[in-house]
Formats: sequence, structure tokens, C-alpha cells
Amino acid sequence: MNWLDEANFVRMQARLNNEMFGSFIPLIASENVESPLCQEMLLTDFHGRYAEGTPDMRYYQGCKYFDEVEKKAMELAKRLFNCSYANVQTLSGTVANMAMFKSLTKPGGKLLALDTAAGGHISAGKYGAAGFRGLAIITFPFDEEKWNIDVDKSVKLIETERPNLTLAGGSVILFPIPLKEIAEATKAIDSYMAFDGAHVLGLIGGKHFQDPLHEGAQVMTASTHKTFPGPQGGIVLANPDLDTEEGKKFARRLDFGCFPGVTSNYHLHHVAAKAVVLAEHLEFGEAYAKQTIANAKAFAQALWERGFQVLCEPYGFTESHQVLLRIGKPNEGKGKWASEKLEDGGLITNQEILPGDKSPTFTSGLRLGTQELTRIGMKEKDMEDVAEFMKQVLLDKKNPAKVKEKIKEFRKDFQFIHYCFHADEWKAYEYRKLI
Ligand SMILES: Cc1ncc(COP(=O)(O)O)c(C=O)c1O
Repeated sequence: MNWLDEANFVRMQARLNNEMFGSFIPLIASENVESPLCQEMLLTDFHGRYAEGTPDMRYYQGCKYFDEVEKKAMELAKRLFNCSYANVQTLSGTVANMAMFKSLTKPGGKLLALDTAAGGHISAGKYGAAGFRGLAIITFPFDEEKWNIDVDKSVKLIETERPNLTLAGGSVILFPIPLKEIAEATKAIDSYMAFDGAHVLGLIGGKHFQDPLHEGAQVMTASTHKTFPGPQGGIVLANPDLDTEEGKKFARRLDFGCFPGVTSNYHLHHVAAKAVVLAEHLEFGEAYAKQTIANAKAFAQALWERGFQVLCEPYGFTESHQVLLRIGKPNEGKGKWASEKLEDGGLITNQEILPGDKSPTFTSGLRLGTQELTRIGMKEKDMEDVAEFMKQVLLDKKNPAKVKEKIKEFRKDFQFIHYCFHADEWKAYEYRKLI
């Protein structure tokens, strides 16, 4: 066996993957493309180092530069989200949720969260992080027409069920969630409300979505790689009053939930990458978030006009980066079929479980996101073209290979990455190590 060939096999797959994403249309709502500065940080020596603890309170030596990086990341996060507390250590959105569960709940406690068929994430479910913490889970009453929680019923449920923690936010999030009403109800029973901003963090930071930490959420957890276009990772944000003992204690609990709660070494190069992208977001975030949402609205409209069943038409389809389609009837598996056909045609999407579906792998939904298309320079008019490609594959049943060729041509105009420093020189999907 030639082990170099084995290693090269892996490198080749990475190159092919880069080529694929450089010539396809990326529509997965939880993905993004990283800026040159972000990539640069991921290749630094920080990658090989350890820094357990918190800045200036380390168990290992050699952290003096990294301490400055982590402090800067926290400072920029607090600035961007206008809050008093940030922890940038968690390795993903799921791990951020684990840290938050550890900080705010006890095993056997009760969690109110969204059902997965209503867009809730598995980390708030019994087979995910919430179950791992031993939480009993109840789910929000949900209004499918409006794709949002039913506020009145939710408030009543909070009064009767008295959850220890209420977690709003999810993986399918088309509209802002009425947090103020929910926050009042949780406050009245002396419990916590948190917001899972994994999907919409970049829109919140870009000031074009709701602002959970100022609408009553005591904590916001998130991934740093979805609409927020950073490295894969997590973040925990909060806004306690640090001039009070109570506020300081709350911050310490959150820190303790992150370390030693759910991390030891926490991937220092990713923290450095988070820091530079936070700075980029302070510079470009508003324009990016605005265009991402405008693109999503234009995309939804264009799909609707071409005959797709786009959810929430009476409510303007979407206020986020996402567009949701129903393909066929529940439990027919047409969502899965559509996502596979689209991949053959050069469009990357994912099937989505919708109300009525029994299995997350055999669904009637497609979830689409415009954040990555926005980063590679697409505007509203380009959404018409993308909708047309989808129509050709799924409704006109054109040969997917032919559509893929057309998309390859179309993509030639969208090779550079936007809303970041050095945008003009930087081709998306061509990372330095591989070229
Ligand atoms: C609402 C929500 N929370 C948490 C997560 C988990 O994030 P990660 O994949 O970074 O662990 C996701 C991921 O898709 C999500 O959609």
C-alpha cells in the first residue's frame, strides 16, 4: 500500500469538492464560504496549540498572543451584538447549546423548544444535547400557516407546564419570533428564556433581523458558520448587568458551562478566525444581511411565479435568508427526490421535514438559503435565474446534465467573494493550501 497515494486521494477529493462548489449553485441554508482572512487564521500555528481556561487564567504556558486574540474576539462580539458577555470557545452550535443547558438547567429539568417538524434543531430534542442533559422536552404550539410559534397557546403552556428553560429559535426560521411575550411568561414563572440563533446570527449581527438579547432572551447561542460567515464553531452571548453580583454570577455560570463544562482545548485557530470575521461583520455585516434577505424574498417570489409551492405566500414568504418549499404530499418522499435531482442538475439543497412528515429522511420539504449566493455576489435579478434552473430540473424535467452545464457557465460571473476584506483578489472555493 502506498500511503502517499492514500493521502493524495483525500487531497483530490478536497480539490474536486472545491471545483464542485465553484461551479454549482450552493443553496444550503446552514453553509457559507469563508473570507481570505478567516482562511488565513485557520492555517496558523494556533491550530496546534492548547489554551484551556480563560484569557490570563491558563493551565498552559505559551498563550500570551492567543490571550490577546481571545480577548479581542470577545470584545468584538460584545460590540457587534451590543451585549455585555461573549464566550467564543464552543466548538459548534450544538456545543454552545450543551454549555447553555449545563449552565441554566439541572438533569430532570423541563425544556420548552420547537419540534423538529416545525424547524426545531436536534440539539433541543431528546436524542440530542437536551436529552443528553437529561431534560424532559415539551414543544411549542406551532402555527404552520404563519410558520411561527402560536404565542397565545405558548404563553398558556408556559403557565401550566412551567418549563425551567424555554428555547426559541430553530433550523427553519422564516420570520422573527415573538420573543417579548414569551419572555414575559417565562419571567412570571421565574425561569429562563434563551434564543438559538444558529441560523440567523449573521442577520442579527447585520441588524436586519430581530435582536433577541434585547427582546428578553437571557442567552443567545449560535453557530458561527451559517449566516454568520465565520469558521465552523459556536458562540454564547448574553447581556447580564456586570455591575451587579447577580450579573457577574450569571456570566461565571455561562463560562463554567463552556469550560470545563463542554470543552477542554477549544481549537484556537477557529477562535482567531471568529475574531477576524467579527471585525469583517462590523464593517460589512449590515450590507450583507440586507442583501441576503432581499435575495431570499426575490427568490421566493420567482419560485412562486414559476409554479412552486412556496410556504407562507400570504406573509411575504420570508424575512430571513431561508425559503421553504413543499414538494408533493407529506410522506411521499418528494423532498428527498427533489434534492437528489437538483444535485444532478448542479444545485445543492437539502430536503426538510415539514409538518405531516413522519421521517426526517423521507420528507416533502426543501429548505433553501440565499446567504452563500449573496456572498459570491448575487443580487435579486440573479435569483430569477436560479429559480429558472430549479424549474427546468424539477418542473420541466429537463435533462439535469444539460442544466448543470448551463449553471457552470452562469457561475463564471460569480467567483469572487464579497462582504469581506481583500474581496477583489479572493476567489471563493479556492483555498490557499490546495492551489
Ligand atoms: C437551530 C440550530 N441550532 C443548533 C444547530 C447546531 O449547530 P452546529 O451544526 O454548529 O452544531 C443548528 C445546526 O444546523 C441549528 O440549525
